[in-house]
Formats: sequence, structure tokens, C-alpha cells
Amino acid sequence: MERTFLMLKPDAIQRGLVGEVIGRFEKKGFKLVGLKLIQVDRALAEEHYKEHKGKGFFEPTVQYIMSSPVVAMVWEGKNVVAIAREMMGATNPANANPGSIRGAYAMDISRNVIHGSDSVESAEREISLYFKPAEILHYAKAGEEWLS
Ligand code: PPS
Repeated sequence: MERTFLMLKPDAIQRGLVGEVIGRFEKKGFKLVGLKLIQVDRALAEEHYKEHKGKGFFEPTVQYIMSSPVVAMVWEGKNVVAIAREMMGATNPANANPGSIRGAYAMDISRNVIHGSDSVESAEREISLYFKPAEILHYAKAGEEWLS
């Protein structure tokens, strides 16, 4: 089953949006298979955003991600990578559909509430950065049979 990596960024935790945002993915029907509250250090932040090294927003983004705990998650489901990106809305909240997470809860590209993998390959890389294999759980979820 396809998996994605989602991360509630420091502003989501500071603004009390954790339950609200997780609830959207639960209600959609995706399955939560990994979850932790962590403080990201510089090495992890730089590794996560390494494709943007050299861009003007790289250092502010690294600082932002380290500024307060984040909630790191692995979600499973059919087409979860693309559907989660749709649910998140455009990277820049100014362009995000009002029904999306960023459209509903964010104002600025540098404080945009949530990160989600942009491809299955990125998901694999990001999941392995934040989770050990044993931290991803395999279990049956009641109601799964109604979702396929
Ligand atoms: S881009 O423009 O294609 O390089 O952007 P993208 O690959 O979608 O993601 C860039 C990540 O950096 C965060 N960020 C910014 N991006 C662009 N411009 C500015 N000013 C900026 N500030 C921060 C952006 O939120 C993306 O983070 P993630 O965590 O991937 O959503």
C-alpha cells in the first residue's frame, strides 16, 4: 500500500492545529501507521531540505523547522501521496484553495502548517529520515473494508 510522509510544522503545534489537521486525514479514510512528536535538529533539517540548499529560503526554512517541535507522521492509503498534497493545498497559502489545509489555516509560505512528500520516491526518502522501520506499524483498522 502507498505511503506518504506528513509533518505538522512548528506553527501547527504552536497554534493548536494538530488535532484539526490529523482529523482531516483520518476522516478521509487514510491509515495512520507512524506518529511522533520530535524536535528536529540542524542535521535533520538540512538533510530534509537539501534540494533547496543555496536558495534564499533555505536557512530561514531550516530555522523555522527547528524552532519548536513538529509532528512526524506516516500515512497509508490508495494514492495517498497525491491526495494528501491536494488536501494540503498549494505550497504558498496565498494560492491555496480555501477548502484545503493551507488555504484554511495559513497566510504565508514560510509558515505553511504542513509538509507532505511530493512523490512516492520522496516519501520513501523522508520516511526513512524520520522513522526507523520498527516505528511503522502494521495493523488492521476497523472499517478498512468500506474504503476500497
Ligand atoms: S520550489 O519553489 O519548487 O523550490 O518549492 P517546493 O519544492 O514546493 O518547496 C519548497 C519548500 O520550502 C518552503 N519554503 C519556501 N518555498 C519557496 N519559497 C519560499 N519563500 C519559501 N519559504 C519556505 C516551502 O514551504 C516548501 O517546504 P515543504 O516543507 O516542502 O512544504
